[in-house]
Parts: sequence; C-alpha cells; structure tokens
Amino acid sequence: MDLSKLNEEVGTFISKTPKSKKLQERARFFMPGGSSRGTAYYDPYPAFIDRGLGNQIFDVDGNQYLDYMINATSLIMGHAHPLIVDAINQQAAKGTAYSGPSELQIVMAEMLCKRIPSMDSVRFANSGTEATLNAIRVARAYTGRHKIAKFEGGYHGSHEYVSVSVRPPAWKLDPNGPTSIPEFPGQPPSVSREVIVMPYNDLVKSEELLRRHKSDISCVIMEPVASALGYLPGNIEFLKGIRELTLELGIILIYDEVQSFRIGPGGAQVEWGINPDLTALGKTIGGGFPVGAFGGRMDLMEMFDPSQGGATIPHAGTFNANPMTLAAGKVVLEQLTPECYDRLNSMGNDLRMRMQTVFDELEVSACVTGVGSLFGIHFTNERVVDYRSMLRGDQDMRKALFLGLLNEGVLLQIVSAGALSTVTTDQDNDAILNALRSVVERIK
Ligand SMILES: Cc1ncc(COP(=O)(O)O)c(C=O)c1O
Repeated sequence: MDLSKLNEEVGTFISKTPKSKKLQERARFFMPGGSSRGTAYYDPYPAFIDRGLGNQIFDVDGNQYLDYMINATSLIMGHAHPLIVDAINQQAAKGTAYSGPSELQIVMAEMLCKRIPSMDSVRFANSGTEATLNAIRVARAYTGRHKIAKFEGGYHGSHEYVSVSVRPPAWKLDPNGPTSIPEFPGQPPSVSREVIVMPYNDLVKSEELLRRHKSDISCVIMEPVASALGYLPGNIEFLKGIRELTLELGIILIYDEVQSFRIGPGGAQVEWGINPDLTALGKTIGGGFPVGAFGGRMDLMEMFDPSQGGATIPHAGTFNANPMTLAAGKVVLEQLTPECYDRLNSMGNDLRMRMQTVFDELEVSACVTGVGSLFGIHFTNERVVDYRSMLRGDQDMRKALFLGLLNEGVLLQIVSAGALSTVTTDQDNDAILNALRSVVERIK
C-alpha cells in the first residue's frame, strides 16, 4: 500500500488523542513500552480507555467508539450490562473470593456440561492459557507421550509449548511446509522438538505428520474456528478427518473453544457435530471477568480428582472458580438462549456479506472471513485457507484500516477482526459499514 496513507491515519489519530499520548509517555516509565498486554498495544500508542457502556467505549480524550473489539470477543453482552453489574454487586457484598467451594461452581459446571455433550466433567481456571495448559498436561499424563501437535498460526495462550509457530514472520517459513519455530529467543530447543506443526485445513499433510509421529504424540490442540486467521472456520471434511485420525491413532483431540464457544450454545463442536476428547474454554463464559475452564471425557478428567487418595495431576489456583467470575458467567449462560445465538449469528452473516460488498464495489482486493458473530478482514485476492495465505495479504492495509476505523469512531482488533455482542444493533452495523466505506475510499 501507499504508506503515506497509513501515515495520514496515524496523524489524524494523534491529533484526536493528546491525553492518551501523555498517558503513554507516563506509562513508559514503569512498563516496557507502557504496556502489559500484547493485543492492547498498537502504534503510535493505544487510546487509553476511560469507560465502556453497552457497545460503546470512551477514551480519555472523550472520543467515543463503537466497540467491535469487546475485549477480544469476551464481552458477549457488551460493557457493564445491568444484569451482570447487579450479579457482581450482590456477589461482592458476600465476598469476592473464598478458599472453599461455593454452590455457584456446581451450577456453572452443570450448565457447561449440559451444553457440551463431550464434556463429562470440568474444572475452572483464570485464563484460556491455563485451560489449554492443563488440557495438554492431562493428555500427556494419560497417553504417556510427550509431543503435541498444533497448527501453524494457531494461538492457544502464552505458555511454553503452544508458543511455537504462532506468528512466524514470512522469512522464517520453510517453503516445504510448517516447521516448529520458537516464538521468542531463549526458548529451550527441547520445546520446539516436542511440537509438531501442521498446516491448517490440509488433511493430507496433517495425516502424514500425525502418522509419522504417532507413537510420540499425546494430543492435537486446535481451534475449530481459527481465530488468528480471521475466525476462519475449518473445512468440515478437515475437522472430521482430524477427529477420525486422532481416534484411530489414540491421540487426544483438544478443541480450543476459548473464542468459538460463542457461535452456538455448545460451541463449534456442537454446531458441527464433532466430539473432541477435551475442550478449553475462556473469554465469554466469564461475563467480563478473568476465566478459563477445561473439561471433557471422564476418564481423562478423573486424573484431577483429589478425593480418591490424591489427584494424579494436582491443579491449584488461588482464584480458580472464584465466585465473582462465576456469578457474572452464570448470567451470560442464562441469557444466551438458542434464539439469542440465532440473532447474533444472522446479524454476523449479514455484516460479513455487506462488508464484502463494500470491498467489491470499491474494487479493492479483500476478503471477509468468519463465522457466526465473528469476522476478519484480509487484503488479498486469494482465498484464505491457512496461516500462509493469510500472511500473504497486505498487513499495512490492515493497520491502516484499523487506525482509519478508530478515527471514524469504530474499534476493531488490531488485525482488523471483530465480534458482535447481544447489544449490537442493526444501526451499529450500518454505522460500521459506512465507516468502512469511508476509510477504504481513503486508503485504497
Ligand atoms: C483461541 C485462544 N485460546 C487461548 C487463549 C488464551 O486465553 P487467555 O488470554 O484468557 O489466557 C486465547 C486468547 O486470546 C485464544 O484466543
């Protein structure tokens, strides 16, 4: 792209955000780059948030944004939903954390297991990272095998073994196919050796790799909807093929539904009729509070059972199943009825179609991926099917679109992806489409 157009968007952003700029300068003194969270930083500096309400978010400079970022898709009922505020106020008055179980955790566990037939039993944690970490741990303990298999471009949290080939730059990619590439320097080489990396949506290559390493692979961890690829749903034959292969080879299949759980009452697995052995959850089920959960087959989850002479895998966590998170999460699960998902998903389908029409009318090479209430935008004229086809898109255009939309009062994820919430209206979707048209006209 013409980088002067990106710079113009940066200039407009700076002119609208003097207070954020000052806060960033102050933040730099005490935090590296002024930041504590990867996806909350963008150049030249992020807009500092003052408050959120419904589907709107307000920065310290008084700018108002339609929020399609909704804390990385987690705020499925928007900001400060009255029912959630009420539930957490009531819970806070009764105490925010106990060192013993509460009935709430049974209620929440029952709701999750009823929604997800593959989940016989579940445990709570505080992040999606902990959920995938524990799922992998039990797969290794159960199978007695060390290696894990994941897909190139797949993000499953920030722990060590999944920090392989997550966002490898183009110059590090082996043209012959995915290899294990450490995400950061200093990662012990033994980590990459334990991770088999496969191409998403490519059943033939994945099968070859799984068969070659079958006696060492404990689990395949994957998202049925690849979040980092613009919420790209896996081809159904591919997803079914991986399920059949893992069953045949005695490999545990872990579905990371930290994000895709929002596409239906039981997540993508129920929508598409595929039962993994274990599932990792997070984000939406916490109602806006830190959360993770992992669960699945009883014979696997029994390894965490402390009641029969001690757990095979001890799993501690000061804030596991804390009542604040559970009180908020319970409201979400109660409110998200099948009708609610139908509405969200049909609004999402409509938005993606209309976004694509904007690009087509403006004759810009772009494609809109996604499923249900999730969408991702790529500036490319090829079909996005995996990490490499996504990476070949114009990443500067994505940055320009993100900043341009901010300048128009719309907040997306930095990679130009987003999600709807139950408080998103048709008027909001009209507004994002108008903003999209204006920005694309400016930057194309
Ligand atoms: C698919 C997926 N898995 C796991 C995680 C990790 O969740 P958390 O940020 O709560 O640790 C994320 C977070 O973005 C995610 O998108």
